[in-house]
Amino acid sequence: MKKYTLIGPFKQILTMAGLPLKGALSDQQLTIIENGGIIMVDEKIYSVGPYAQISEEANNLNVENLLILSDMVCLPGFIDAHTHICFGGIRANDYALRNSGKTYLEIAKAGGGIWDTVTQTRKASTLELVNAIKERAERHMNNGVTTIEVKSGYGLSVQEELKMLRAMAMANEECQADLITTCLAAHMFPKDYQGTVDDYLLEISTVLFPILKKEKLTHRIDAFLEEGAFSPSSIAPYFDKAKEMGFDITVHADQFSTGGSAVAVKYDAISADHLEASREGEIQMLAKSNTVATALPGASIGLGCNYAPARKLLDAGASVAIASDWNPGSAPMGNLLIQAAILGTFEKLTNAEVLAGITYRAAAALNLKDRGIIETGLMADLIAFPTCNYKEILYHQGMLLPSLVWKKGRLAVDV
Ligand code: NIG
Ligand code: FE
Repeated sequence: MKKYTLIGPFKQILTMAGLPLKGALSDQQLTIIENGGIIMVDEKIYSVGPYAQISEEANNLNVENLLILSDMVCLPGFIDAHTHICFGGIRANDYALRNSGKTYLEIAKAGGGIWDTVTQTRKASTLELVNAIKERAERHMNNGVTTIEVKSGYGLSVQEELKMLRAMAMANEECQADLITTCLAAHMFPKDYQGTVDDYLLEISTVLFPILKKEKLTHRIDAFLEEGAFSPSSIAPYFDKAKEMGFDITVHADQFSTGGSAVAVKYDAISADHLEASREGEIQMLAKSNTVATALPGASIGLGCNYAPARKLLDAGASVAIASDWNPGSAPMGNLLIQAAILGTFEKLTNAEVLAGITYRAAAALNLKDRGIIETGLMADLIAFPTCNYKEILYHQGMLLPSLVWKKGRLAVDV
């Protein structure tokens, strides 16, 4: 006999249902169920609605009832659509150098930056990486992040990239959050590679990509398009091969200079991430495309740069997700809610736009159709904040934390 779980009554349930994937959103567009309840079964949402109605429905089911006695607002679990949480070591030196006036690229050229983390990640054992990912994922889970994208890109050889992606697969088995993996073997050209940039990318796409498929390590391919990383022309064979093999494409685009977002749109990428340097032309291009524009306020805060033009992107009609970019260099904070709230303040985003950016629009940035909204049949990833008013969540700038987190219908956090 199936076991159903009824939870509620919640002061408010913010379902995030019925909202458009693209464009600006007002708070008035949000569906708010006052005194709502939710029934879950088999890791999914069975029904959602006013508590009186839902508890009546529950009478005919084999239900376990979890009464919520205090004031709570329930939302879909948050989704962090861009992280690099598989890494060894730290980069506190970069922080100090940046604040003494050195630029990100100068630090990278002087031996810091991504290559420093590559060296430290290569030294780490698989088990050390698994444990590091689990610890970071657990922290995210406690903050209400129930799905986390994780990139490789600190291995930069076939074997070292595989080590990272296998560590992610192992961590995914053992941690509560879902980890969505991405191969970022084109993060930078490895300094120790014996050959040209084209040789490296060819080796990755012809040797590594088939192993990724065979071992089912990821269905997503990413590249960092930037001076000091890869150029739009050099990356073409890598993305052509990825597309041909059926991988989803995502791009680190327009972080310091433009060019990356055009590549993202050309390849019909699922998302183009960063976009701090995007201007009117890029904004219009992204708005017309199916590519989700993912803002990474954590990197802007970390590097002291401007934010991605989220307001302009939304007004032009783009879909905007917000992710943490959690990494040891540009975004060590790793707190999605704080960063999303801050982006909202600087970019003048509504509550609806920020919350969409870390729920259903973040799901779209990962090509996931089974989560990010509280709706019958979708994954029962739910979070409940101790407040009567959903507006308090962003107002507190990430300092109000969820008291309850359900992952696939199972209570994972209860504080
Ligand atoms: O998304 N921009 C490139 N990659 C990362 C930074 C990684 C690092 O500095 O280690 C980012 O910001
Ligand atoms: Fe990144």
